[in-house]
Amino acid sequence: MTTNAVRAAVSQRQQDSPDATVQRIVVQGRTLAMQLCVLVRTARIHDVGNVAFHGPLVNFIETVDQLYTAEGEFKLQAVGDYLYINQSRLKVDGSSYASYQYLIDEFRSRGLSGFSFTGKLTPPEVKKFVRLFLDVDCKASDPYEDFSTALTKLSVEHLVPMRTIVPQSGTINVEEARDSRKVAKRTFYRAIEATKTVMISARDHRPVDLRKAKRAVQSIVDLILNEEFSLLGLTAIKNHDEYTFQHCVNVSILSISLGQRLGLSKKMLGELGVAAILHDLGKATIPGWVLNKPGKLTAEEWKLMTDHPVQGVKMISKLRGLNDLALRAMVVAFEHHLNVDASGYPKIGDRLEMSLFSKIVAIVDCFDAMTAHRSYRKTPFTPYDALHHMLIVNREKFDPLLMKAFVNTVGMYPAGTAVLLDTNEIGVVVAHNAHDIFRPKVKIVADRDRKKVDGALVDLSHREEGSETYSVGIVSALSPEEYNVNIADVLG
Ligand SMILES: [Fe+2]
Ligand SMILES: [Fe+2]
Repeated sequence: MTTNAVRAAVSQRQQDSPDATVQRIVVQGRTLAMQLCVLVRTARIHDVGNVAFHGPLVNFIETVDQLYTAEGEFKLQAVGDYLYINQSRLKVDGSSYASYQYLIDEFRSRGLSGFSFTGKLTPPEVKKFVRLFLDVDCKASDPYEDFSTALTKLSVEHLVPMRTIVPQSGTINVEEARDSRKVAKRTFYRAIEATKTVMISARDHRPVDLRKAKRAVQSIVDLILNEEFSLLGLTAIKNHDEYTFQHCVNVSILSISLGQRLGLSKKMLGELGVAAILHDLGKATIPGWVLNKPGKLTAEEWKLMTDHPVQGVKMISKLRGLNDLALRAMVVAFEHHLNVDASGYPKIGDRLEMSLFSKIVAIVDCFDAMTAHRSYRKTPFTPYDALHHMLIVNREKFDPLLMKAFVNTVGMYPAGTAVLLDTNEIGVVVAHNAHDIFRPKVKIVADRDRKKVDGALVDLSHREEGSETYSVGIVSALSPEEYNVNIADVLG
């Protein structure tokens, strides 16, 4: 880095507050990633000498220039399913998702995690770089090595490729895990969209079409019957903006998983899933400021809140084509806050035995709500603490047998729990193991010195062949805030 570049970087940093600096880098990083994507895509169609390549080339060089002036040397890297500019993750949204995914796939097929930008770029350098990038034989035994050697040979100095971290032996096949996670993610986000449509139409008194929601639930059932447990991991990421809708989907996923554990038929699982999605439909009638009120609710507001089971029944009764499924959904909407000891609401005495579906939804509803960031609670319970709170403090409220089945469904350390391992590393639980609820699958996120790493995915139920003992075990569950662990980065 030249003295001038260092000076410029330092002076830019001195002008900005730390937050503003991060924000600026993220905005420029997004531009850079989008432009790199356009550059590669254009070069697939036109030669780099073609006039069509000129615009994308100039834009890309300009953005690198700006970033390098402000930051000095910087990196654009894919970690898991996200792109990072230095340490900052680029936020995915509707317009960037496809471009980011394109780059991540292009990097991955060449054994690259990304690039380090070590200086300002010139047009000839970028042209050589793009040509070589497209010429890489992705089927070669080490495409990264071939690419890196070719860049050096042609004196491309300021775009330095970085190798993907290779998983260690005894760890899970990362590629396989990633593919199935993609399918799970698509299903998950589709279900959220479908729920949004249902809830908003119900709120606005428009006719509610349940077909999309039913299809989404069917896909969830299929994935869970195929033992695709990464869906459970997705329920542990709580998106503040969309939480109302996501909560309904989370409750549906967790209910279906618990139902599968109980051996319910596929048809029953479908009905349970739809009833679960609709369990809070009555909340569509409550104003947002009451739902999100940070302080204590007044008597009147509380009345509105506790009326949502009854409102839910009314709304479901208006759905077109009233059938068995709608009746089941009404029962769940009405009963899900009753509690088996009749301590909940609506107050109807203790003579009503809750239905099986309602008891299932009541458990997973409470678990999901406890682990969410809510306006009235500073820090949410970790999944581990929520589960233990329900097992000890709230045990009277839930059906004990179903509670046991729930523990078997999510494991003693549910997905999204940060754990200290006996290797002194820190991991995040990504999925449970149905055959051993104390030994989940864990992604390593910090090494022994608490340094952040994009570590291996380790199955804690794994034993070396012929050995009686396990390779790695859990010492304790941790609070992610205390150790600066970002759960969404790992599970998203
Ligand atoms: Fe509710
Ligand atoms: Fe709920």
